Amino acid sequence: LWLAVGIRRRQPGEPAIENGFIPYLGCALQFGANPLQFLRSRQKKYGHIFTCKIAGQYIHFLCDPFSYHSVIRQGRHLDWRKFHFATSVKAFGHDSFDPRHGHTTENLHQTFLKTLQGEALPSLIETMMGHLQDVMLRSGKLSPSKDHWEVDGIFAFCYKVMFESGYLTLFGKELGEDKCQAQQAAQKALVLNALENFKEFDKIFPALVAGLPIHVFKSAHSARENLAKTMHAEKLSKRENMSDLISMRMILNDSLSTFNDVSKARTHVALLWASQANTLPATFWSLFYMIRSPDAMKGARQELQKILEDSGLTVDPSDPTLNLTREQLDNMPVLDSIIKEAMRLSSASMNVRVAKEDFLLHMDNNEAYRIRKDDVIALYPPMLHYDPEIFEDPYEYKFDRFLDEKGQEKTTFYRNGRRLRYFNMPFGSGVTKCPGRFFAMYEIKQFLTLVLSYFEMELLDPAIKAPPLDQSRVGLGVLQPTYDVDFKYKLKSNY
Ligand code: HEM
Repeated sequence: LWLAVGIRRRQPGEPAIENGFIPYLGCALQFGANPLQFLRSRQKKYGHIFTCKIAGQYIHFLCDPFSYHSVIRQGRHLDWRKFHFATSVKAFGHDSFDPRHGHTTENLHQTFLKTLQGEALPSLIETMMGHLQDVMLRSGKLSPSKDHWEVDGIFAFCYKVMFESGYLTLFGKELGEDKCQAQQAAQKALVLNALENFKEFDKIFPALVAGLPIHVFKSAHSARENLAKTMHAEKLSKRENMSDLISMRMILNDSLSTFNDVSKARTHVALLWASQANTLPATFWSLFYMIRSPDAMKGARQELQKILEDSGLTVDPSDPTLNLTREQLDNMPVLDSIIKEAMRLSSASMNVRVAKEDFLLHMDNNEAYRIRKDDVIALYPPMLHYDPEIFEDPYEYKFDRFLDEKGQEKTTFYRNGRRLRYFNMPFGSGVTKCPGRFFAMYEIKQFLTLVLSYFEMELLDPAIKAPPLDQSRVGLGVLQPTYDVDFKYKLKSNY
């Protein structure tokens, strides 16, 4: 009977199991309503590991941070590719990147490491800094003045500035863009359309990951295809100053894959999504919490002032060409902490691995549990991020939480008196850790240094509460606010 209704029974040595009350969904609704509360209550009942059926899939939730290592370490029993490649295919509609499917021999992981880290960073940083200042001060999009305040939503502001700058940094500008007005207008329209299409598509992203087919969502479907149309090889080849990431991927699409032109273009859409979907809300939360906390503003301004003074840089909105090197950005622990703390409160990515075979999962306390082939093992970092034993008053924003007594990056956090190896995981973990994480931190820092350099900023309501997190995106990364928060800004007058 158990088999007939698709319910599984706990076998000896396996984690406790909860099938839920609804046949296919299992615990999906309770989990979705408040994942943290759901997992905490099950942890209390069952201990460090337990199994839940969620939308047809059996997921083992591992809740003991000291045992994370056995999942994060790339063991021979666990597969990360299966889940990641399948998710990307579902959402973006390209052919599979899984080498076992035979469409490509590209090692994507290597491509990302080569083009987003190490030596690739300085040029990404420099290009981004130029675009950020263009959008903020030269494009006419914001038109800030010294004499009166402009009012905007913080999320709307971050979206405009970061989307365009990030998009141009990765995909370059159309050739000859500076030469004639018509081309400039076309360039502006292209970015604006990309932003609108991105927003439309991004709205239904959680539904696609959950397995709904994209043709159910007419306008989001055409938004995704519109984005792909702008990313066909012949369109991209007309762009200049493209990032290594995209130019290398174009070459590898052509030389190592059997993807057709549409599939190739969709792989670029996937990268646009990866580069923006988390960065936009992370920038919002960083700016929002920074403006709301007078101490954070003061600390950040002092830090920036010192960097500018030490390097003899001047800030001039009529010639917005400020440039900070990678080393200077590395030397900003206060901004670093401001951003990390904002992401601690807003990120809710799920770290997932799939069992390649039946095996025994060893826990830190020397217990071991039997895991079945094809089962999913998940870590849910908000369990750490909101743990009061690790972070005192976990629901409070404290801008200096990631600073030590010397004002440098704090890396020692404890639970039950034991030092934690994993305590802050907005970028995932192990081999699937976000390859763009360094660039992401730099670009948010760059954004913050520039708004601090050029603008006075105030919340319309200084005592406003943080907007609730949009829970519909739980599992996918940094959550968006359920509504925007208004602020006002004007050009600083003391140059
Ligand atoms: C994957 C977070 C910005 C490129 C991921 C993952 C997370 C994440 C949680 C999945 C890790 C896993 O499944 O375990 C973030 C956050 C960002 C950010 C919080 C900003 C605050 C960026 C940027 C880029 C980028 C700016 C590129 C320019 C990627 C790529 C992947 C990825 C290519 C897929 C890696 C793979 O599957 O091998 N990111 N990310 N990310 N991210 Fe980011």
